Amino acid sequence: MVAKTEKDFILMISNFETLSFNVSDDIGTLVINRPDKLNALNIQVLRELKGALTELKTAPLKGLIVTGEGEKAFIAGADIAEMKPLEPGEALAFSELGQLVTLGFEALPYPTIACVNGFALGGGFEMAMSCDFIFASKNAVFGLPEVKLGLIPGFGGTQRLMKILGERRAKEIMFSGRNVMSDEAKTLGIALEVYADKAQLLAEAQNWFKTTTKNSSVAIARAKVVMGQGLVEERKAFADIFQTEDMVEGTAAFLEKRKAQFKGKIL
Ligand code: COA
Repeated sequence: MVAKTEKDFILMISNFETLSFNVSDDIGTLVINRPDKLNALNIQVLRELKGALTELKTAPLKGLIVTGEGEKAFIAGADIAEMKPLEPGEALAFSELGQLVTLGFEALPYPTIACVNGFALGGGFEMAMSCDFIFASKNAVFGLPEVKLGLIPGFGGTQRLMKILGERRAKEIMFSGRNVMSDEAKTLGIALEVYADKAQLLAEAQNWFKTTTKNSSVAIARAKVVMGQGLVEERKAFADIFQTEDMVEGTAAFLEKRKAQFKGKIL
């Protein structure tokens, strides 16, 4: 089989109607592109994200930025118009699709940053939480307003918010359905950084990856896996990484007092 090039991945992912994709310095930028509905996640967007994730899993990237098209919203939630008529069985399938997508982002083998400009509500906040970090612009608004619609979060938000904030604060935000503005999001640890506007947000996210791209991508991928799991996995992954090319090089470089040159072959 012929190996896919960076250009192949760009073409494949850009083929989706509601997504656009580009790569710069080994960092991909995936844009949810449905601005007339504030990038709300309907079934089409979710299916296309699922398809894109199949490609992204094996793409030759060192990081991914996820953002929303336009100035007003990252993603304003799951599509309320599409959800309204769903019977419980259909709603289960909708939630499974949303969870598959957020789990897919969480499982990508390289660091991911959600760049949140404007609204990240409901499923939008849940998508952002499934990335490794959130960078926000000053006008970012986070929240899980599902309770105001007679709903609960269904794309992993109940679990991930608790993990990020602890049970008490997560309940306060979920039960109130209130908005969390960017400065509070940073204070609470939801957003890692806050920037003036969208242009600065994207530039700083791209720039941030310089802090990781020189490190071992094998080790980062393994760390991501074990941080999502428990001690048994940690032990197994810790042992597995021994005598990989990167581990041999990294330890040798330290002992030889030189900079490591990692090849970054993922196991
Ligand atoms: N699902 C479906 N459509 C949505 C949507 C969503 N989650 N969020 C926004 N839209 C649509 C609006 O219906 C509107 O479509 P229209 O122009 O065809 O009428 C368009 O996006 C623009 O939104 P609008 O409400 O006019 O913008 P606004 O600036 O007045 O308000 C929000 C912005 C985010 C406060 C408001 O859109 C909102 O509350 N959205 C729902 C948020 C939510 O509850 N998300 C969780 C869902 S579980």
